[in-house]
Amino acid sequence: MEKLEIPKGDKVQIYKSIIPQIHALIQGEEDLYANFANVAAALKEAFGHFWIGFYIVKPDSCEYGKKLVLGPFQGPIACTRIAFGKGVCGTAWRDRRTVVVYDVEQFPGHIACSSHSKSEIVVPIFSGSEVFAVLDIDSTELGSFDDTDAKYLEKLFPQGFWDSYQFSL
Ligand code: SME
Repeated sequence: MEKLEIPKGDKVQIYKSIIPQIHALIQGEEDLYANFANVAAALKEAFGHFWIGFYIVKPDSCEYGKKLVLGPFQGPIACTRIAFGKGVCGTAWRDRRTVVVYDVEQFPGHIACSSHSKSEIVVPIFSGSEVFAVLDIDSTELGSFDDTDAKYLEKLFPQGFWDSYQFSL
């Protein structure tokens, strides 16, 4: 696949078109970082949000033994490590659910990687029953994300998606 086809229309139409294209894009490639890099690029091309990227659960010398570590992304530089339960990303990891934030300033403990970021969505990604990564998207506008984004971004990597996938970290 050389080029994404992105329809003109609302975000539901865009999600419905790009999700199968993204699945085709990563199918057959086992390198997780290569796949996450292309997914971040595809979402950036489709929606143009300020920051789109992945944090991956990795061993860390902290008390919990693991942190989210910055993975492939599109956008300005970002914080590299996020503790379990901290910020929007650490909350999505701990609570194992998508977190939609209308206004980041109203989210207790939000980690501000950039003052331009106004709203955010973080979707946990599972391997078996474990969260092994999160997808984080930030917007410069308030309230850019809602249940529609949660629904379709969860369809990108539904539970079970990575279970039979032989990826290397
Ligand atoms: N705002 C996130 C941190 C990551 S950056 O936005 C890229 C959080 O509160 O977890």
